[in-house]
Amino acid sequence: MTTTAPTPIVDAQIAHAQIDWDEHGNPHSRVFSDVYFSTESGLDETRHVFLIQNELPERFAALPAGGRMVIGETGFGTGLNFLCAWQLFNANAVADARLHFVSVEKYPLSRADLQRALGLWPELKALADQLLGRYVAVHQGFQRLVFDGGRVTLTLLIGDALDMLPQLDGQIDAWFLDGFAPAKNPEMWTPELFAELARLAAPGSTIATFTSTGWVRRSLNAAGFKMKRVPGIGHKWEVLKGRFIGWPADVPTPPPIKPWFARPRSTLPSPGYPRTALVIGAGLAGCATAESLAARGWQVSLLERHGDLAQEASGNPQGVLYLKLSAHGTALSQLILSGFGHTRRLLERLQRGLDWDDCGVLQLAFDEKEQARQAQLAAAFPDDLLHVLNRAGAESRAGVVLDSGGLFYPQGGWVHPPALCRDQASANNIQLLTHNDVIGLRRDGALWQAWDGERLLACAPVVVLAGAAEIKRFPPSADLPLKRIRGQITRLAATPESQTLTTVVCAEGYVAPARSGEHTLGASFAFNSDDLTPSTAEHLDNLELLREISEDLTERLNANGLPAEDLQGRAAFRCTSPDYLPIVGPLADRATFLQAYAVLRKDARQTPDTDCPWLDGLYVNSGHGSRGLITAPLSGELIAAWLDDEPLPLPRSVAEACHPNRFALRGLIRGK
Ligand SMILES: Cc1cc2nc3c(=O)[nH]c(=O)nc-3n(C[C@H](O)[C@H](O)[C@H](O)COP(=O)(O)OP(=O)(O)OC[C@H]3O[C@@H](n4cnc5c(N)ncnc54)[C@H](O)[C@@H]3O)c2cc1C
Ligand SMILES: C[S@@+](CC[C@H](N)C(=O)[O-])C[C@H]1O[C@@H](n2cnc3c(N)ncnc32)[C@H](O)[C@@H]1O
Repeated sequence: MTTTAPTPIVDAQIAHAQIDWDEHGNPHSRVFSDVYFSTESGLDETRHVFLIQNELPERFAALPAGGRMVIGETGFGTGLNFLCAWQLFNANAVADARLHFVSVEKYPLSRADLQRALGLWPELKALADQLLGRYVAVHQGFQRLVFDGGRVTLTLLIGDALDMLPQLDGQIDAWFLDGFAPAKNPEMWTPELFAELARLAAPGSTIATFTSTGWVRRSLNAAGFKMKRVPGIGHKWEVLKGRFIGWPADVPTPPPIKPWFARPRSTLPSPGYPRTALVIGAGLAGCATAESLAARGWQVSLLERHGDLAQEASGNPQGVLYLKLSAHGTALSQLILSGFGHTRRLLERLQRGLDWDDCGVLQLAFDEKEQARQAQLAAAFPDDLLHVLNRAGAESRAGVVLDSGGLFYPQGGWVHPPALCRDQASANNIQLLTHNDVIGLRRDGALWQAWDGERLLACAPVVVLAGAAEIKRFPPSADLPLKRIRGQITRLAATPESQTLTTVVCAEGYVAPARSGEHTLGASFAFNSDDLTPSTAEHLDNLELLREISEDLTERLNANGLPAEDLQGRAAFRCTSPDYLPIVGPLADRATFLQAYAVLRKDARQTPDTDCPWLDGLYVNSGHGSRGLITAPLSGELIAAWLDDEPLPLPRSVAEACHPNRFALRGLIRGK
């Protein structure tokens, strides 16, 4: 289990790999002056060194129904090792086993280079095409890519191995120690790296590497692996294989995770046994949770009080994929970058133009403060994520007259949230139960029961509360500090003149290019309103937001002369937490928690040796505020990772920053 590392100030300006191609079309790293794979036979070498020495053919074949294997790799490179492992897994593992591949990469290949490199292996084409299809928005940090309906998961850690692996919480069954020759890349092949491989090793974990260098073998032995030289292949006379035998006695063990953020010790059925879960609430958070659980073999009942999914906050015709980043690598900013990548890749499954569009998002630099913020972001992040446009550039992007330039996010765009919800809730093992308003939650033995008054709606050992601020109606989640903020969007009919708008444009509000003949204009913020009847005053406020974006577009939409009473739209509640991070993870019994850790009131540095009083099987996915499109889908993966004891899809520190226990903990530390 990992330690809580302080949130690093990340260098988000990670560069793509600089590649030269030799006369046979093989990739060669300019920075490391080394080859990505053996130019004689990359496939044979990968199979011999990494697959055979880790005994993967036998181990994949031995996986039980519902079983899982986690592979870790240093240096994703062209993804050749990943694709070979995937191919072998498909050939050897039972249908409902899962492969989880975690790979760290400092210099990710550009998509064009990846395509060119993978073109060298026609026999991997079917899998390579799937990888290429998902290889979008792969930015700094943790990036999750899901294949084959969740049978294969790839978690890329984009950054330096020595920075990224300490943030990983997961247990690796087999290590592929790759990463250019030690002599060409001495900064990576260090005792610190080997200690991380050991920290993350599952009991009995294996390791293989192409090098047989003596000091690498000795260092791995010193880190807790038992290494041996074995015959190599091609021009490699010998390679190394090994097994983790235990943390070395003479090295202090890594400090344990604080009990309030530890993984609940589960009494739930293991994979392979029938596993059922209730998800309460069918908006973005509930549908994402249902998909992530269903992909892991859970039978999910998705309970929704309305007649269909996505009827509340997730029911707007268009929402914006807008990344409110910080140049300082805050937990929120890391979550946004990882969540954006994940959502963006999910959207590739939907219909462009109707369900979503990657038309880009332009955030106008409407005042000096915003201009300065944008300059800071542009210096901190790569151009393919965001870049500054001057006024002329912004106008030519947007297709309308503007008052200023701004920051352009070329991979952003708009989404029809109900389409994403529907897609995520479409697996066969998800049953959508509409008109199921859960009023009460009761515990009966090992099961949670969902009741509507005196009617038992459903029961299961696992419940995920995904009903936005409504989760406060249940006593176990009643104290979570969630607030509702009413918001209203206005729908404006497209005109021939408004068709020129080619990107989402945001200032204080936003306007999107037309979907099905209508533009969405948003959105108001009303902090003290409980009424969801659309109000004319807020429509007029939205029109004012439009004028601030562009007078020209306002005229193109004939929006100046529209009779106020004809304005159409809808209102819903956002659900926010005080620190603007979502609340995602397992729930503890609050009263027992406060007692168990009462000593923190006096001394915040104490860590009582007391297990957290978890409410077995009870989880929350809520608090997605104004950016659920970016945070909710990845939060589904986070819930599933907590539940199934998988590698977390986010750095440990970010998962802790989103943890439901953070509020009770802060309360204790502040002496409340
Ligand atoms: C006006 C407005 C504009 C927005 N614009 C954007 C945007 O541009 N980009 C963006 O990313 N985000 C935007 N958001 C935020 C985004 O819509 C939310 O973050 C997201 O929809 C939250 O999803 P959710 O599933 O948590 O909540 P919801 O969509 O509210 O879903 C909760 C569901 O749970 C159900 N439920 C609750 N309690 C129960 C119960 N006890 N039993 C059964 N069912 C229950 C509800 O009926 C509802 O269907 C906007 C929000 C609003 C209001
Ligand atoms: C030989 S290539 C890996 C080949 C790869 N496994 C494949 O299947 O194509 C080595 C990779 O390690 C990456 N790398 C080198 N040093 C690194 C570091 N310190 N952290 C993360 N990745 C690193 C390089 O950018 C390169 O992509």
